[in-house]
Amino acid sequence: MRGTTRPMVRGTTGTMVRPTKPDARATGSVRRTGRPSLEAAGGAVLGIETSCDETAAAVVVDGVDIASSVVSSQVDLHTLYGGVVPEVASRAHLDLLVPLVTTALSEAEVEGRGLSGVAVTSGPGLAGALMVGVATAKALAVAWDVPFVAVNHLEAHLFAAGLDGADVPLPVVTVLASGGHTMLVVIEAPGRYRLLGQTLDDAAGEAFDKVARFLGLGYPGGPVVDRMAQEGDPRSVDFPRPLLHQGWDFSFSGLKSAVLRYTRLHPDAPTADVAASFQAAVVDVLVSKAVRAVRETGAAGICLAGGVAANSELRRRTTEACESMGVRALLPERAMCTDNAAMVAAAGWWRLAWDGPSSLETGAEPDLPLLTA
Ligand SMILES: Nc1ncnc2c1ncn2[C@@H]1O[C@H](COP(=O)(O)OP(=O)(O)OP(=O)(O)O)[C@@H](O)[C@H]1O
Ligand SMILES: [Mg+2]
Repeated sequence: MRGTTRPMVRGTTGTMVRPTKPDARATGSVRRTGRPSLEAAGGAVLGIETSCDETAAAVVVDGVDIASSVVSSQVDLHTLYGGVVPEVASRAHLDLLVPLVTTALSEAEVEGRGLSGVAVTSGPGLAGALMVGVATAKALAVAWDVPFVAVNHLEAHLFAAGLDGADVPLPVVTVLASGGHTMLVVIEAPGRYRLLGQTLDDAAGEAFDKVARFLGLGYPGGPVVDRMAQEGDPRSVDFPRPLLHQGWDFSFSGLKSAVLRYTRLHPDAPTADVAASFQAAVVDVLVSKAVRAVRETGAAGICLAGGVAANSELRRRTTEACESMGVRALLPERAMCTDNAAMVAAAGWWRLAWDGPSSLETGAEPDLPLLTA
């Protein structure tokens, strides 16, 4: 375990460099207490994630090494309703979280009192679901007498690519595409994020979920559309590529409606072809903007984050685009793209080192933004 020095992050050359102090605004409305406790920077941090329909706990050492990571998906519970039911999610988190924390600690072979901190997603997310994680994390931190740190879920997604010691070159253009968000962000340094654009309506993951529902493929839509698309022809339907060459923002609502109209007009069209053509349109837009962002900012690579980053075609096209530009493609392990607690522990380790523990008065913040420069 690392001792009392300031944490290091991986830099552009692959060597370890000291991070610059994050923009003070990047801490969002999460309240912090005082200066960094550098002693807390080394060692194992327990991460807890309950912002939506995954209950997760993980132990990450020195901010990058995953000692354990367990995720319990509530998909089966919500499938019945075709989407996440907030009250059902909160109750499931209550039942699942403590056993998962016990498993994460025992797999990592650490005891609660031996941790350097307990990190938890405090927002954004579902209010009741977040409250279960935040209250549990505070209780554990007090009982074990270790620091408590509140983490922004979107910032946690941005830390996924650096897990397990991956070298993340900076600055890097990141496509953060999840169930609730689609953002194009330049990570200039840990904690210093420049927002280029974001979705004006549906998130990319939300579009996958809604299209899957129209096509009768079930919930969650992303993985099943991804699988189905592998059997289809992506050129069979020329769906619109909204805002492809305009600005940095995204819009997926019109594309989703175009798929709906097409399937109503062509009920016999092979589902695999429709899925592949829809997916190609989403991927075209995400990759084209990321490529343009690399060219305009001189970034060292493209990083994918969020659940949609697990998409096979997005990963393939991003890799291809980066190779042709001679920059790095940073693709987190698929399990680290969707919600997990390892990314929360990694972000928490870093926040703990820079900002020190959060106040125990911190509560759930359902609308917490990723604050950017
Ligand atoms: N292989 C895939 N292809 C496309 N989309 C996918 C794939 N796997 C998962 N997704 C999508 O990712 C989303 C879930 O991602 P994630 O868990 O990061 O979202 P969230 O936590 O609910 O939202 P947010 O992070 O914005 O709060 C879902 O919309 C799901 O359909
Ligand atoms: Mg998420």
